[in-house]
Amino acid sequence: MENIQNLIKRLRKELARHNALYYDKNEPEISDGEYDALVRELERLEQEYPLFALSKSPTKKVSGYASSSFKPIKHAVPMLSLDNTYSHAEAASWYERIVKKFNNSNLEFVIEPKVDGVSASLTYLDGVLIVGATRGDGETGEDITENIKTIHDIPYKLKIENPPSFFEFRGEVYIDKSDFKKLNEKISYSDGQKFANPRNAASGSLRQKNPQITAERKLHFFVHSFGKIEEKYFKKQSEFLEYCQNCGFKLQSNFRICNSFEEMSKFMDIMLEKRGLLNYEIDGLVIKINSLKLQNELGSTNKSPRWAVAFKFPSKQATTKLIKIRSQLGRTGIITPSAILESAPLSGVTISHATLHNFEEIERLNVNEGDIVLIERAGDVIPKIVKVVRKESESFFKPPKNCPSCGSEVVKEKEVAYRCINPECPAQFRRHLIHFVSRNAMDIDGFGESVVDQLLEKKKLHKLSDIYHLSYDDFIKLELFKAKKANNLIKAIAESKKRPLSKLIFALGIRHIGEKVSEIVAKRFKTMEALFDVSLEDFSKVSEIGEVLALSLREFFENATARHVIEDLGLSGVNMTEPGTSKKVSQFEGRSFVLTGELEKYSREKASEIIKSLGGKVTSSVSKKTDYVLTGENAGSKLEKAKELDIKIIDEAEFEKLINIWYKI
Ligand code: IVH
Repeated sequence: MENIQNLIKRLRKELARHNALYYDKNEPEISDGEYDALVRELERLEQEYPLFALSKSPTKKVSGYASSSFKPIKHAVPMLSLDNTYSHAEAASWYERIVKKFNNSNLEFVIEPKVDGVSASLTYLDGVLIVGATRGDGETGEDITENIKTIHDIPYKLKIENPPSFFEFRGEVYIDKSDFKKLNEKISYSDGQKFANPRNAASGSLRQKNPQITAERKLHFFVHSFGKIEEKYFKKQSEFLEYCQNCGFKLQSNFRICNSFEEMSKFMDIMLEKRGLLNYEIDGLVIKINSLKLQNELGSTNKSPRWAVAFKFPSKQATTKLIKIRSQLGRTGIITPSAILESAPLSGVTISHATLHNFEEIERLNVNEGDIVLIERAGDVIPKIVKVVRKESESFFKPPKNCPSCGSEVVKEKEVAYRCINPECPAQFRRHLIHFVSRNAMDIDGFGESVVDQLLEKKKLHKLSDIYHLSYDDFIKLELFKAKKANNLIKAIAESKKRPLSKLIFALGIRHIGEKVSEIVAKRFKTMEALFDVSLEDFSKVSEIGEVLALSLREFFENATARHVIEDLGLSGVNMTEPGTSKKVSQFEGRSFVLTGELEKYSREKASEIIKSLGGKVTSSVSKKTDYVLTGENAGSKLEKAKELDIKIIDEAEFEKLINIWYKI
């Protein structure tokens, strides 16, 4: 076995290499999840062997550094990182420690999305933006002032009277998912290197030598914390956030103030589920003590504050080897390539296949058999290959020029010009509202044209999701409304949140998309999150969907404004899945297995590994809590016990059937 000290050294060196790839080159070779796993492994070893722990280990300091291509900027107060937790239990034990420390179980916490972007510090002198800097190594960052000034969400002058003489605002620069997708498409058409994820795209765009390029990249910014401030005192994080809004910053609206872990836990579940609906990438949530006085009392380590913790979501990306590219002839005659991968675990499922959309995509990705690729699993869809992280192949993959069956040429499809498809465009808004609430759409009984007109006149409706935030007071003021009618309408609105995805698709008023097509689309793609990622080809592959409908659907779900409308509806509680076909949960999830006897094709270790990768667990003895007993040749007393306790017994063939369902998604 490798000597522990060497192993620790090797891990540190490996982490330093990945840090340079991530922060300096913007070309990571591994996913964030895999990087986190390396850090955790190092942390574990350093804890177990404190003799080898170093103060300058990557586990003890802020990772990243300021490159020499930009002028160095020393932060007035260091920019720290956050400690991570990966489960409710880990977050709960952080919470318990704080409660115990203050002997108070009624503390207020703010829980905010952890936007996956690039941290930046903005210094304002007397209310004017003077310097914008990256985090760098935490002490010194890079001067990116001119690039920061191109971001519309950042005010050049604070919109308040008597601004403090010195103010360091800290926040995250990020790019919307839909803009990221368009940027990558543009890059690959011009034969450039695609960005692995929105975070990389934001980082690359922010650290441009020419601010003109940054300006074209549609970057956004939201404030989450502060460094040094003079002549201004806040009592709470929530008060600080409100102040930022008054200063003219865009605020992250999806945050909550919670008084108990239970409340936080609920929000964690909601955000984990709704993560895919947001048009910006989040890699978790950040929990902070609201009181700044208590924050001060807790203070920070060299690396991270003790008053905050990140709750990280499972990674959507992983790296693996592409073993084979397979060409398949589809039902409608479309020939599609697909990738066979070396099995890799990804958000609780073992992945061994990925889509490649079409042959142009292979060319754009410059991918071939043998390469190490970054794969991503968004929503319920089959994972896709994001990019090649290490080229191992020498030749180019040659797509078949002709159909393998009839020999005719493969036809390429063209996209057409853009059109305004925003369902909240003012001129079309009234018409959209009336359609949205109508019987065949969201079916909100009592929400007729006159109600729509009156609410518009009273300026109560600015966007579709406002429907879900109307109150009794808003209705009781309308003509011919009494208590009963107002209450009934509120009930009908709440009821409409449960409509199936098909009704919602129809209600969104997508060009050419009627009731029938909405149903077909909902049944085929199951969740809204999945729809965001469906390519033109995949829409066209559905037999009832022709070119015009496919284009309309693809344009709509890719449009940033439409995505915002959906995001708001989702966060207002509107259902985004088709019943009966909702999220696939592996049959193994949370189930306990006992193995007995010898299997033909699998060793005991391999079978256990498969069960675990699908969310199940393996125990050694049969009890009432056992869900399945997997039996092979010469099964012994465990089989007898299982029969006695009436536990489901499966043989190798049944086991294979079960795993095949999950291995092939
Ligand atoms: S609070 C550490 N709040 O996550 C100082 N950070 O992994 C307090 N981040 O460098 C930071 N969203 O740039 C905070 N809502 C949020 C955040 C957030 C993203 C970033 C931040 C930090 C990194 C740590």
